[in-house]
Amino acid sequence: MAEHKLLFEFAHESEFRTLHGYLARKGYEGLKKAIGMDRQAVIDEMKASGLRGRGGAGFPTWIKWNGIEKEKTKPHYLVCNADEGEPGTFKDKQLMEETPFLLIEGMTIAAHAVQADCGYIYIRGEFVDAAKSLRAAIDEAYQHGYLGKNILGSGLDFDLYLHMGAGSYECGEESALMSSLMGERGMPRLKFPHAPLPTVAGLWDHPTIINNVETYACAPSIIKNGGEWYATLGASTKNSRGTKIFSVSGHVNKPGNFEIEFGTSLMELLELAGGMQGELKMCVPGGSSVPMINAEDCQKAIIGYEEMGEVGSMVGSGGCMFFNEHTCIVSFTWRTAQFYALESCGKCTPCREGTKWMLQILDRIVRGNGQPGDMDLLMSITKQIDGRSFCGLGDAAAWPVAGAIKKFPHEFEYFIQHGRSMVDTPEARALAPRLHQRAFSSV
Ligand SMILES: Cc1cc2nc3c(=O)[nH]c(=O)nc-3n(C[C@H](O)[C@H](O)[C@H](O)COP(=O)(O)O)c2cc1C
Ligand code: SF4
Repeated sequence: MAEHKLLFEFAHESEFRTLHGYLARKGYEGLKKAIGMDRQAVIDEMKASGLRGRGGAGFPTWIKWNGIEKEKTKPHYLVCNADEGEPGTFKDKQLMEETPFLLIEGMTIAAHAVQADCGYIYIRGEFVDAAKSLRAAIDEAYQHGYLGKNILGSGLDFDLYLHMGAGSYECGEESALMSSLMGERGMPRLKFPHAPLPTVAGLWDHPTIINNVETYACAPSIIKNGGEWYATLGASTKNSRGTKIFSVSGHVNKPGNFEIEFGTSLMELLELAGGMQGELKMCVPGGSSVPMINAEDCQKAIIGYEEMGEVGSMVGSGGCMFFNEHTCIVSFTWRTAQFYALESCGKCTPCREGTKWMLQILDRIVRGNGQPGDMDLLMSITKQIDGRSFCGLGDAAAWPVAGAIKKFPHEFEYFIQHGRSMVDTPEARALAPRLHQRAFSSV
């Protein structure tokens, strides 16, 4: 299966970043159609499309949009999650740099559907080029009546602001993002069923919709071509429709972002990325937080939310990393655990203590001081974090460790028993973190 470029169709054409170039390529046809439609009809099209959120959890977009109060009593807000901090994922960055109007149009369609007065794009602080591209596009949209008061004479008023984050992974979690946007510390808030959904009480306790960049960017083509048309894409899968952008990296010949139709196999995605440099050993298909799968499972894996579950992993945010035979699984797990321990915000005990504890154990293993029972201890810690933490970061920290031990137990056993990696090749030594270089026999 080849790439299916719906969002990326004109991505490499620099003209597409300007309003003139965007309009010349049939940009804003979706919004023009949407503003002529009843709000509920727009939400119904989103329902027919089967679109699920592209930020990681795959939640049906229409359910969120439909959940906002219909008889408006307060201002409504729209938020775009452009924080993209998941290691291995870099699709939103390219979308914002190369197709800024697609996001702005998608958000304006959503604003019409949910009666939002004001929107915020919360963008990762490091994404300077993406922010420049968006800022220029927002300015142009205001100048030509595509943002602001009475958009295209429709009576729709919608203001859009760009807010740069400060590089915290946790601020991608939606409730932490909203806290940060309101000037509070970037920590998550109590959630449904213990607190109302953001659609009821989000930003400043007002009804709020929050979606990922790619999710909003899908809206123009859904409205332009119809939800039923969109749902024909990916129809071979159980419940995943449309296209999905995967950021492919690791030991591949042609790393980059690839837009594919759901139902494509993981091996076809690998082919699009130019195939492996070396032999495929394992893959982390959806960003660093999802469980890794071994080469055998990669052969069977079909890209779809339910289908990836059948091989024990997830679509996640689409950060797909392929690794070759020179990869030491223990070092990889150690490095991943280091990231989560550093990014844990410290609000809840299972994650604050658990991530540090897992790191301490992995640290001693990669230093050659692993102890019998370390694998059991690690597994038991993952179980105490998973499902018991205040937000998804805890789960995200536990899954990669549990997944690595389940799929590659022999590598952990060997490292603990011999005090060094069983992947003892010059390539593996070069890749190994400095900390554990001395754990290799001949270094
Ligand atoms: C620790 C953590 C980090 C997250 N980072 C992001 C992110 O960078 N971008 C994103 O869209 N969603 C991220 N999410 C998911 C959001 O909380 C939320 O589900 C998403 O923005 C909803 O949009 P969607 O329905 O369009 O996917 C993160 C979740 C967690 C737990
Ligand atoms: S799970 Fe981690 S990141 Fe989330 S609230 Fe608890 S300590 Fe903070």
